[in-house]
Amino acid sequence: MSYAIIGLGKIGTAIAQAFARQGIEVAVAGRRPVDALAAQIGPSLIPQRIEDAVKADVVILAMPFAAYREIAQVAESWQGKIVIDATNTFTPPEELGGLPSTAAIAKVLPGAKVVKAFNHLPADVLAQGPTTPQGADGSCFSPATTTRRAPRWRLSSTGSASLRSSWGSSTRAGCSSRHGATRGAD
Ligand SMILES: NC(=O)c1ccc[n+]([C@@H]2O[C@H](COP(=O)([O-])OP(=O)(O)OC[C@H]3O[C@@H](n4cnc5c(N)ncnc54)[C@H](OP(=O)(O)O)[C@@H]3O)[C@@H](O)[C@H]2O)c1
Repeated sequence: MSYAIIGLGKIGTAIAQAFARQGIEVAVAGRRPVDALAAQIGPSLIPQRIEDAVKADVVILAMPFAAYREIAQVAESWQGKIVIDATNTFTPPEELGGLPSTAAIAKVLPGAKVVKAFNHLPADVLAQGPTTPQGADGSCFSPATTTRRAPRWRLSSTGSASLRSSWGSSTRAGCSSRHGATRGAD
C-alpha cells in the first residue's frame, strides 16, 4: 500500500507528521518543491512531483478545494484508488452541480473510492497526535476535565487509517493505573 499527500501546507503537514511518527513512507507533493519541509518533518516523507505522487494507492487531498479539478487531471487513472479528501470549501453546492464538495470531487475521479476525513480538525490539533498531558499513548483525557477517554486514530503499516475505540478493558486498565481511582465509570 502506498500513500501520498497532495499539498504540504497546514493540514498536509499535520497529516504528514502522523505518518512520520509511525515511520510510514508517504509521498508528498505541492505546487512548489517540498523537499526542505519534508526533510524537516521526517525521513519517511518522500518528496515527489504531483504527477508521480498521484500514482499512490491512497491519495490524500490536502490542497485547497479549488484545485481539485486540476489534480484530477494529473493522474492517468483513478481506478481503484482510495482518495481521502481533507479539504473544506465555502463553495455552495449550487455551484457544484448541487453536490456536496466531496461528491463533486468524486465525480471527477472515476473509479476512485473517495472518503472525507481529517477536514474537521484544525491542523494544529491534528498535529498534536494522540499525545495528552497524561501520557504519550493518548489513552485518556484529564480526569479533572472529563471522564471520557479520547478516541484514538492511528495509521497502520499494513495500510489503514483507523479510529480505535478506547472503551476496551486493556485501555481501561492503563487509565486506572495512570490516574488511580479518579476515573469515573465509562
Ligand atoms: N488549516 C486547517 O486547520 C485545516 C483543517 C482541516 C481542513 N483544512 C482544509 O485543507 C485544505 C488546505 O488547507 P491548509 O490550511 O492546509 O492550506 P495551506 O496551508 O494554504 O496549504 C495548502 C497547500 O496546498 C498547496 N497547493 C495549492 N494549490 C495547489 C495545487 N494546485 N496543487 C498542489 N498543491 C497545491 C499549497 O502550495 P503553495 O504553498 O505552493 O501554494 C500548500 O502547500 C483546505 O481546503 C482547508 O479548508 C484545513
